[in-house]
Amino acid sequence: MQFFIDTADIQQIKKANEIGIVDGVTTNPSLIAKEGRDFHQVIKEISEIIDGPISAEVISLDWEGMLKEARQLTKLAPNVVVKIPMTEDGLKAVKILSKENIKTNVTLVFSINQGVLAAKAGATYVSPFAGRLDDIGHNGMDIIGEMVEIFDNYMFDTEVIAASIRHPQHVLDAMKVGSHIATIPYEVFQKMFNHPLTDKGIKAFMKDWEQFQQN
Ligand code: E4P
Repeated sequence: MQFFIDTADIQQIKKANEIGIVDGVTTNPSLIAKEGRDFHQVIKEISEIIDGPISAEVISLDWEGMLKEARQLTKLAPNVVVKIPMTEDGLKAVKILSKENIKTNVTLVFSINQGVLAAKAGATYVSPFAGRLDDIGHNGMDIIGEMVEIFDNYMFDTEVIAASIRHPQHVLDAMKVGSHIATIPYEVFQKMFNHPLTDKGIKAFMKDWEQFQQN
């Protein structure tokens, strides 16, 4: 399973990359806005750190505008994946981009039908949002698992990115249901590292070592 980091924060991307746990990056307009800097500049900086896929989202809602933005975004770095919202115009743009061998990530996916339509249009990735589905009383992970199964049944090449990950249990569940990728916020990565017994164990080892040194 691949782990992407879901952030546009350069420091977080650098730190996670140095540890060696990052296969790619996903951003969205809200994450970019948080940085308060030029969108293209941020994507360029990320591409200087990460070799894997970097999702950068279009702002246009019409397919012609999406295509224009997509072509500009892919000029920033060879590993840029164009993130496109799950709309009729979005899928039309995905179809055209897939013929141009431009990689796409269809975002804001909340149902299996949406995922299947995106796969049929030729999306490289689809991003079902687990956390936001959970928020309205659905089980986001069930949808992700069924989507993976259906893509397998019909041999779609499209990969599923478990998105809107809110806590370590989401990551575990995404792995259990066979999601190809999970895109994880930095704060969730940090929680995945921690375990009270690890801290307790380190303390005990250090204490024993110090006592041994004094003898
Ligand atoms: C995915 O690509 C999105 O950037 C992200 O996972 C959205 O997560 P949120 O629902 O926590 O905003």
